[in-house]
Amino acid sequence: MVRAVALRRPVDFDDCAALDARDPLATLRDGFCLPEGVTYLDGNSLGALTHSARRRLLDVADGGWGRRLIGGWSEGDWLEAPARVGDRIGALVGAAPGQVVVSDSTTLNLFKLASAALVLRPQRGAVVIPRDDFPTDRYVLAGLGARELRTPERGGLAGAIDGEVALVVLSHVDYRTAELADMAAVTQLAHDAGALVLWDLCHSAGALPVALDACDVDLAVGCTYKFLNGGPGAPAFLYAARRLHDRLRSPIQGWFGHGDQFGFGDRYEPAPGVARFLTGTTGMLGVAALEGALDVWDGVDLAAVRAKSMALGDVLIDLLDGRCAGLGVTVASPRDAARRGSHVALRHPRAGVLADRLAARGVVTDFRPPDLIRCGLTPLYTRFVDLWRAVEVLREELGGGR
Ligand SMILES: Cc1ncc(COP(=O)(O)O)c(C=O)c1O
Repeated sequence: MVRAVALRRPVDFDDCAALDARDPLATLRDGFCLPEGVTYLDGNSLGALTHSARRRLLDVADGGWGRRLIGGWSEGDWLEAPARVGDRIGALVGAAPGQVVVSDSTTLNLFKLASAALVLRPQRGAVVIPRDDFPTDRYVLAGLGARELRTPERGGLAGAIDGEVALVVLSHVDYRTAELADMAAVTQLAHDAGALVLWDLCHSAGALPVALDACDVDLAVGCTYKFLNGGPGAPAFLYAARRLHDRLRSPIQGWFGHGDQFGFGDRYEPAPGVARFLTGTTGMLGVAALEGALDVWDGVDLAAVRAKSMALGDVLIDLLDGRCAGLGVTVASPRDAARRGSHVALRHPRAGVLADRLAARGVVTDFRPPDLIRCGLTPLYTRFVDLWRAVEVLREELGGGR
């Protein structure tokens, strides 16, 4: 088992402070607007506001919309925004330029790409998604009208993928337990059976290095409001491998995905490349906030982000083991940092009440029924001392005393 932080005794407050003092990413926290007195461990649900997102939002409102009015579309850089911002996200998920755009929500992007994938495999009637995968993914897949929906356990994918399968969909990081799937191996498994694979990167983009091109992934979607800090309801992204572009058709033939959008012609002709998956008018305020938020990533080494995320997880688990032992809370995430994404889930029979009590004391986590509390670890702004405080408050709430 890989331990990102190796100590022979339980972690204490001084260890946490020392880890913060030598954290190479520590100054990035200054880029965020974090409220005083709040220990925020929910950036895996909604990332924090960055100063750069706030500035860009105001710029586009005052300077763009406010001053240029409709000219923002014709003279400005708004029409190129989905591809421009898509390429910036592509750089964070291992995609060469021209394969990622931002548009719509994750749900809608999943629908568009999964529908397009099924058309590429007309003889095959089955689609596969792990039964515990995120609900919207399962609902969308169930609604596609495939002859057979296979829902194996996450660990039982191999047995469910055969020559009948058109498409495999799964989350790279499990939203409940943070278990990390092996992208290269699962993609290979699907390809060996002749199936396409679509990865959900909601809990990976900005949380850990992703290698879409290197793993030969076909399709991927993800949101930008978690680890990418794009803001509530920020536009999602989608990835389609360049080798598939010419053959993929979006089920939503919107004018933003048309090859000659302002020709206003009678017939729909898809735009070349991944832009064919755009639908309607880009939500420019949302894209502006996201584009600003991405500035915090300039010059950031994703390997350092991953190293810190693993260390944060290890320290949190050590603190729980050392300070909450016997108080009824157990770790539901993999203990091996190499198999864990960027949150740690705790199991407790009264998790919902506990999460509310923590929030009332300024420790923000989230509750996932029936019995999980998720603690999000966002390496750009989570400190090791935040984990210390969270565990101390948890220990008190569990009756462990001060
Ligand atoms: C793994 C995963 N997929 C999909 C979604 C939903 O995406 P959206 O609401 O942006 O469509 C979420 C939301 O939290 C998620 O965690």
